Amino acid sequence: MSVDTPVRTLDVTRVRDDFPILQQRVHGRPLVYLDNANTTQKPRSVIDAIEHYYAEDNANIHRSTHLLSERATRAYEAARVRVQQLINAPEAREVILTRGCTESINLVAQSWGRANLRPGDEVVLTWMEHHSNIVPWQMACEQTGARLRVVPITDAGEVELEAFASALGDRTRFVSIIHVSNVLGTINPVAEMIRLAHERGAPVLVDAAQSVPHLPVDVQALDCDFLAFSAHKMYGPTGIGALYGKAALLEAMPPWQGGGDMIASVSFEKTTYNTLPYKFEAGTPNIAGVVGFGAAVDYLRRFDLAEVARHERDLADYAVARLRDLRGIRIIGQPRERAGVVSFVMDGVHPHDIGTILDREGVAIRTGQHCAQPIMDRYGIPATARVSFAIYNTRDEVDVFIHALHTVRELFGVRS
Ligand code: ALA
Repeated sequence: MSVDTPVRTLDVTRVRDDFPILQQRVHGRPLVYLDNANTTQKPRSVIDAIEHYYAEDNANIHRSTHLLSERATRAYEAARVRVQQLINAPEAREVILTRGCTESINLVAQSWGRANLRPGDEVVLTWMEHHSNIVPWQMACEQTGARLRVVPITDAGEVELEAFASALGDRTRFVSIIHVSNVLGTINPVAEMIRLAHERGAPVLVDAAQSVPHLPVDVQALDCDFLAFSAHKMYGPTGIGALYGKAALLEAMPPWQGGGDMIASVSFEKTTYNTLPYKFEAGTPNIAGVVGFGAAVDYLRRFDLAEVARHERDLADYAVARLRDLRGIRIIGQPRERAGVVSFVMDGVHPHDIGTILDREGVAIRTGQHCAQPIMDRYGIPATARVSFAIYNTRDEVDVFIHALHTVRELFGVRS
């Protein structure tokens, strides 16, 4: 879509009314929140669902016979079904509720990885992974003697399918790849990557933290073996997320944490484990968080996610076009398939200074390494400044951001 044609069908003004936090001023200016890849804001319906849960239903789940426990259990399990429906998982038991995307990946690395990786095996990742999809696999490799194989990325910030295919070989035992880069905005061709990995017999985990909130994701269409994501990046609460896994794989995997709820019977001689999904949900979970997660999924499902993707892409394209008009700005990553994420650096100004000055102008962005240090090394930079969009952002906000960048340049004496 041309950057001159804004997406009009999504009623962003009404959407903004759903988010109480967006109505405030910071440092005397209207808040322009462009740090959504870090965490999104929460609509009233999510805030209300959590409050309602604590005010009306609070009790422990799966354990007691009283009414409150029944209600809490029903709300918890209903949220699981909502998550299942969002990603089109065949069965609710294939959705494990975790503390977030990071824990979901650690679960697979520790459970599947430790049980299946052998010395010399390779776990294939791309150069654009978030630390949460690198470090758990490094730990599993240290524990098993397997090793990482990293697929390079191009200057544009893309994974070439030929490079990916040539990284797959007889030693490939597992593939773990990011769907949408939180730094470059790249949407990876994961369906094709999964198909190539499956030709080699390797299961694939997709880190979908930055895709599930922003574009349609269907685990059956992708044929991924695992999919990991977090509620807080999709308008839900922090500290909660999900792991989808194909039932046959999850059934064969050992539990990774022991405790209450994940057992069928316990004696000092022998413990047997609960069925899916409870085998992987030890201890009292974040019940209110799950309730909020369910409300966030309800909220997201009110929208056509293809339209959401177009809206956020439009904002990214508009931001890129306006940034290109500024001298001394270098955009990091120019992928053809891009979500609503744009990283950049400015000659002579450290990204942290950009972030601090923008904050005084009411514009919230993220600066730093974005939990993806290898990407910084790839481009030979210490850090970037990053804007990332959500359903409630507008082109006017991009204009405010660009205007604030002019202030940065003036303060640092950068010539136009
Ligand atoms: N992954 C989060 C970000 O990109 C923390 O900001």
